[in-house]
Amino acid sequence: MTADELRNKFIEFFTSRGHVQIQGKSLLPDNDPTVLFTTAGMHPLVPYLLGQEHPAGARLVDYQKCVRTGDIDSVGDRSHLTFFEMLGNWSLGDYFKEGALAMSFEFLTAPEWLGIPLEKLGVTVFEGDENAPRDEESAAIWKKLGIPSERIAFRPKEDNWWGPAGATGPCGPDSEMFYDFGGEPCGPDCGPGCSCGKWLEIWNDVFMQYNKTADGTYEPLARKCVDTGMGIERTVTILNGLRSVYDTEIFAGIRGAVERAAAYVYGGDAEKDRSVRIICDHLRAAVFILGDPRAVSPSNVGAGYVLRRLIRRAVRHGRKLGMEGRVLPPLAELVIERFKGPYPELEENRLSIIDELAREEDKFLETLKTGEREFEKLLPQVLKNPQRVMSGRLAFRLFDTYGFPIELTEELAAENGLRVNRDEFDEAFRKHQELSRSQSAGAFKGGLVDQGEMATRYHTATHLLHQALRLVLGDHVAQKGSNITAERMRFDFSHHSPMSAGEIERVEALVNEQIRRDLPITVEVMSLEEAKEKGAIALFGEKYENQVKVYSVGDFSKEVCGGPHVTRTGGMGVFKIQKEQSSSAGVRRIRAVLE
Ligand code: ALA
Repeated sequence: MTADELRNKFIEFFTSRGHVQIQGKSLLPDNDPTVLFTTAGMHPLVPYLLGQEHPAGARLVDYQKCVRTGDIDSVGDRSHLTFFEMLGNWSLGDYFKEGALAMSFEFLTAPEWLGIPLEKLGVTVFEGDENAPRDEESAAIWKKLGIPSERIAFRPKEDNWWGPAGATGPCGPDSEMFYDFGGEPCGPDCGPGCSCGKWLEIWNDVFMQYNKTADGTYEPLARKCVDTGMGIERTVTILNGLRSVYDTEIFAGIRGAVERAAAYVYGGDAEKDRSVRIICDHLRAAVFILGDPRAVSPSNVGAGYVLRRLIRRAVRHGRKLGMEGRVLPPLAELVIERFKGPYPELEENRLSIIDELAREEDKFLETLKTGEREFEKLLPQVLKNPQRVMSGRLAFRLFDTYGFPIELTEELAAENGLRVNRDEFDEAFRKHQELSRSQSAGAFKGGLVDQGEMATRYHTATHLLHQALRLVLGDHVAQKGSNITAERMRFDFSHHSPMSAGEIERVEALVNEQIRRDLPITVEVMSLEEAKEKGAIALFGEKYENQVKVYSVGDFSKEVCGGPHVTRTGGMGVFKIQKEQSSSAGVRRIRAVLE
């Protein structure tokens, strides 16, 4: 059975049982700050699970594109994917446990539907805790349907409870359905839900009974609902007697193309197979993100950053397989062809998908080239080390400043008979992550926290932006706040109306012009009066010492500030305003990146 056949059968089964097919939604959720991507079919249905009437009625069915990034490092094994398709049926206050489980059972086992032999199935149910009782009800229903007790496992909340990725919202106990690959149990406790590889989860029926609120309490829902999710890739795998999602026809075309481009036959080498799978998964995910009606571009923040990571990881694994030059666009064409039937938006956005991929791939290849060049520059010094070890701090600098992946630094080091101090790198990386996390959590309290290279560049960019805004919008513009991480900058300023596209463009151009001019940054210490006399911008309401530092960016900007700043503007990157919006009355907020 192909994915297309499974998708159609599922819709047909549930529409024949009174469900109305609704459209799957965008991969990038609207108005939901808790998640970057749609992670399950229920996601766009949250308001209806919480009580709103759905215009299509109380029984719904659909297929939904999903991205989950929590397991990104597991991608490459047999079953993990970042992008996948979920089939779902919903009851909004209509049937509950009995109806849901009976329909799941029939669809899975009836010969005219999936016809999975009963002895291949196992299920799990919730074992109960202080918030909700042990789900004896579901266990009894399963038994009545024909699942023997030894194939019904009671599991704790971390396994058998489902709520949306953001910690609040509709949630409840669930019952999951597993396929048994056969073979011996891994131990006395092995049963459905065991992660030893014997069991594969294919479907989950969630009994939405509670609304978890921000203070952590579980409020019973006035109307009990059912939310289910069947993974298309996994189900196609088991229906075809396969072991891996990557062995299905879903990936056959793109996998074949990777094999040809890499002159490698899949199945020959575990490490290389992993690379092939990563390319298949990441490229497919990237194509769907770029092909979405709410598509984002690769960037250093949020969903755009995930996209960038997916693309770059695919490129890197392509290189590991010996693929050279620009390889992604022809592979993307195959993904579009394979999925444009159920997802016509891929065809509609074909040009931009290919264009963005090619651009990002080129940019990354350029990054790799720069990184390799910088590595060569460092090499003579490192070679003097008698232990033949490159310090982790140096490796981190290549990563932090040039985006050069640690794996490549290690590869180049090995080629030169060197080893990288990975522990030291990991430590520096961890610190860096903590810093950006605490900053994105809003921990910025005046003063510059991250003194890293990127943050320093953003700090200088803040001065350029401030001055550019004053030139384009007028002298009334004054900084009201700023927040910098290693990935982006935010800048709040006084101004009364939204900026027009033209104004945004002029500001960007002005900033980029100063970067291109490679202006020197100089600093002088003087009294605040003197600084003001010289026309330096000082922040209104800020308390300053008697003696202040005044930073000048060439002849363009002069500002009272504590620093630090880059020494010259050249090489800061390309300045891009991603968003301009209202922050509070009379204050606008700009979010910008240096690319
Ligand atoms: N929302 C449930 C899941 O994703 C069905 O597993």
